[in-house]
Amino acid sequence: MFGGSGFLGRRIVKHLLNHGLVVRSASRHPARAGRKQAHHELFSAVKADILDRSQIAAAVSDASTVVNAVSLYSEHGGVTFERVHVEAASQLADAARRAGAERYIQISGIGSDSRSRSSYIKARGQGEEAVDVGFPGATIVRPAVMTGRDDAFLTTITRLLRILPAYPLFGNGDTRLQPASVEDVAEAIARIASAGADARLFEFGGPRVYTYRDLVLEVARLLGIRTRLVPVPFVFWHALATFGEFVPGMPLTRNQVELMQIDNVADTRLPGLRDLGIEPHDIDQVLRSA
Ligand SMILES: NC(=O)c1ccc[n+]([C@@H]2O[C@H](COP(=O)([O-])OP(=O)(O)OC[C@H]3O[C@@H](n4cnc5c(N)ncnc54)[C@H](OP(=O)(O)O)[C@@H]3O)[C@@H](O)[C@H]2O)c1
Repeated sequence: MFGGSGFLGRRIVKHLLNHGLVVRSASRHPARAGRKQAHHELFSAVKADILDRSQIAAAVSDASTVVNAVSLYSEHGGVTFERVHVEAASQLADAARRAGAERYIQISGIGSDSRSRSSYIKARGQGEEAVDVGFPGATIVRPAVMTGRDDAFLTTITRLLRILPAYPLFGNGDTRLQPASVEDVAEAIARIASAGADARLFEFGGPRVYTYRDLVLEVARLLGIRTRLVPVPFVFWHALATFGEFVPGMPLTRNQVELMQIDNVADTRLPGLRDLGIEPHDIDQVLRSA
């Protein structure tokens, strides 16, 4: 489980263990992985950088399934979207095949497109193609934006609604989103890992499609907050995100702004959560449990 200490990865680890699978979490900071699972007899955590081929090979030895949930949300130095999401993902897929794994699961995202002008969205699309070369028959999982305790999405909306008298929208707020519960997505990935899947490409979205505007209003309603929405042109958000990449802890990156310019909705022609027997949770249930 590469990226087993992350927002999604931690939940995948938990659900894999619930399925009775032996789980090895691999990341650069293994101590952050699975604090709750640390003493679980089926769990171990190893230090491995996906940018280091020998560490990848050691981490996947004997694995029957390899899951890649490593993220890179902003580039720095030589660590580019292409290096992590294309080259390293392809090397991990190749290492999984060489190690004799039966399954390789790549976590990508809805909207991934190898022809996009956005370097992030393009790298995610090229990564999907590259892992299928490294591990023919790889499973690609594209979640929508995910919600859950300590998420970056609903938490930010909630915080801004609480502190700002008026809420700044991305553009006119017309972008369509289908937030998925991170727990539902993790359970779906655990089901694919434990039972396999005929499909090679999944898109996981929640039960409702919202415009960004309606989503903010719905969160405000659930929290009992009155707000006024203010459209803000994307050119402003791009400038803010570009500046923000030099400010540690800034919760906005250019790739997030680029993703907010295109609809983030699961393709109904592709299998999703319900095809794996999961009834998706809506944001009200997520907000109540967070
Ligand atoms: N969050 C969402 O709403 C969302 C939506 C759609 C798709 N996704 C996709 O889901 C995947 C997981 O996202 P996330 O939000 O869970 O990310 P995250 O919270 O940032 O976690 C990323 C994980 O990757 C590990 N990692 C980062 N760089 C690494 C490296 N060089 N070598 C080894 N491990 C490394 C991190 O651990 P260390 O720092 O310890 O190495 C961490 O465990 C990503 O592919 C993301 O694009 C996320």
